[in-house]
Amino acid sequence: MFKKVFRVEGGNFQKAGSVSKQIKKILKQLNLDGELIWRAMIIAYEAEINAVLYAHECQVSLEITAEKIYMRFKDKGPGIPDISLAMTEGYSTATRAMRERGFGAGLGLPNIRKTSDHFEITSTVGVGTTLDIDLFLN
Ligand SMILES: Nc1ncnc2c1ncn2[C@@H]1O[C@H](COP(=O)(O)OP(=O)(O)OP(=O)(O)O)[C@@H](O)[C@H]1O
Ligand SMILES: [Mg+2]
Repeated sequence: MFKKVFRVEGGNFQKAGSVSKQIKKILKQLNLDGELIWRAMIIAYEAEINAVLYAHECQVSLEITAEKIYMRFKDKGPGIPDISLAMTEGYSTATRAMRERGFGAGLGLPNIRKTSDHFEITSTVGVGTTLDIDLFLN
């Protein structure tokens, strides 16, 4: 069993992607399947970028067991008022500045859900958003 906790700083574009990169390194060192690592990276990167774009801070927990990779992204932030809308492909509240950086296609959350074996999102407006994701090892 492997366990590690990371922190993502909201608004810090300099560091954006660094937690995903660390996770990738860990999964590679554990010799996990390449396709599984690739899927974990799509999920981790999209969730990390959302935390940078929309949250104040985010705690990322990574757990790897013989059965699965478990990732939890628990942020403090504005929360999501309408989750089913946020999960809709193409829906985005990204600002012009965010779009100029290449974000805001409204595909991050739908892609996280598609790529996960198990995906759960909970959110409280004014408090924050939590994503729970499982990727099964086989
Ligand atoms: N952690 C979060 N906290 C608050 N709002 C969020 C969070 N993650 C996503 N959202 C909201 O859900 C919307 C959809 O997110 P999604 O990741 O699918 O698209 P996007 O980030 O806008 O664009 P893309 O991911 O394609 O660059 C966001 O525009 C934002 O309004
Ligand atoms: Mg996104």
